Amino acid sequence: MARKTAPAPTYTHSETLFQRAKDLMPGGVSSPVRAFKAVGGTPIFVKDAEGAILTDVDGNKYIDYVASYGPIIAGHANERVVAALSKAIGRGTSYGAPTEAEIQLASMITGALPSVEMVRFVNSGTEATMSAIRLARAATGRDLIVKCIGGYHGHADQLLAEAGSGVLTLAEPGKSKKKKLAEAESKPSTPGVPPSTVANTLLMHFNDLDGAKAVFDAHPGKIAAIIIEPIAGNMGVVAPKAGYLAGLRELCTASGALLILDEVMTGFRVAWGGAQRLYDVQADITCLGKVIGGGLPVGAYAGPKRLMEMIAPIGPVYQAGTLSGNPLAMAAGISTLEILQEPGAYETLEQRSAQLAEGLMEAAKDAGVPIALNRVGAMMTVFFVPTEGATVTNYAQATACDTEKYKTFFHALLSRGVYLPPSQFEAFFPGLAHTEELIDQTIEAAEEAFEAVGKS
Ligand SMILES: Cc1ncc(COP(=O)(O)O)c(C=O)c1O
Repeated sequence: MARKTAPAPTYTHSETLFQRAKDLMPGGVSSPVRAFKAVGGTPIFVKDAEGAILTDVDGNKYIDYVASYGPIIAGHANERVVAALSKAIGRGTSYGAPTEAEIQLASMITGALPSVEMVRFVNSGTEATMSAIRLARAATGRDLIVKCIGGYHGHADQLLAEAGSGVLTLAEPGKSKKKKLAEAESKPSTPGVPPSTVANTLLMHFNDLDGAKAVFDAHPGKIAAIIIEPIAGNMGVVAPKAGYLAGLRELCTASGALLILDEVMTGFRVAWGGAQRLYDVQADITCLGKVIGGGLPVGAYAGPKRLMEMIAPIGPVYQAGTLSGNPLAMAAGISTLEILQEPGAYETLEQRSAQLAEGLMEAAKDAGVPIALNRVGAMMTVFFVPTEGATVTNYAQATACDTEKYKTFFHALLSRGVYLPPSQFEAFFPGLAHTEELIDQTIEAAEEAFEAVGKS
């Protein structure tokens, strides 16, 4: 890791495994962004991980800012999480029956989120958002939902309209990037989704309250819900402007629609309780995932009793899952939240993330490379903006950034032992295991990486 003067790393074993994997799995991976398609080269195959350090099958070590795309906030193989899992695994891996662990994790979530009285556990963020939408439609008796262009809420059909994350990462350069609202409406982001499935999905731009109002004005009394990442994280990190979330809240309340905050990425990452605590906004339904599973497959949707009691078996809204509330996932989630609950945990996350952000900004400046560094707590993006001083506050600005420069930056850091997300549009996730020394090493490596970008 941060092997500044070490010989260039080799990736022979990763290359061999990638060839085999490509024969057996589409793109050689179980989720598209992992294939490095946006940055080129061979994805590193991981042998093991501990703390903030990943080791690949060739023995190369990396300071890891991917963190499994967000869940790993307490460090890989954190000893407390491992101990909780070891204890749980000896008691069986799944029962199809309720457990006390579900109560414990649910009560941690309800305790942290003022808008939440009840929780339904599922297995992924995708399940959480699609179930939340079903609930919102049932509760309002309306069909239309509104999402942001470049917002990602998992891969359910109805939400794959102008989606961010992997969809944006794999988009052809220049295509689908500067869409105006009118032309972007209701087009599936992928073959296999019938236009009729996204016909009820309306689009708005993140941080554009007037645009949201216009969508509501065009469909009076017909919108079931807005679903939004309170901090956009799947077009790169973009913070909400002051008053934006409060404005959406008012808009929903005034029109009888529900506000679904998709906190799959932000929940318990940017603050205890998530972005809604940070920005003091009340959700009707909250979607969670990632951190609340501590690296195991978990999602949840949650809200007040009056809504949650509409879900089967109390209410008529059907939703179920063989492995939902899985005891291992609950154990990893509980121990991760216990670590975050300790005094100073979020202060440490903030301090380390700020150290990294400041170091990266200075390194970019020294190398004369214009960047916008967007950060909220322990999630951030380095955007390669067109001109010095340019900011990224919306989708158009995010997608105008130079993905070729990101590519150079990514590879320069990878070869120096720093593992960033392989896409301009995915967030970096510092965690509690990123020590000041590791961040200093990252910044040192980044100084050279920005120089390489400057010369490219
Ligand atoms: C905001 C948001 N919502 C939903 C999801 C989907 O979660 P999962 O990949 O667990 O299905 C993601 C995944 O990155 C996400 O970032």
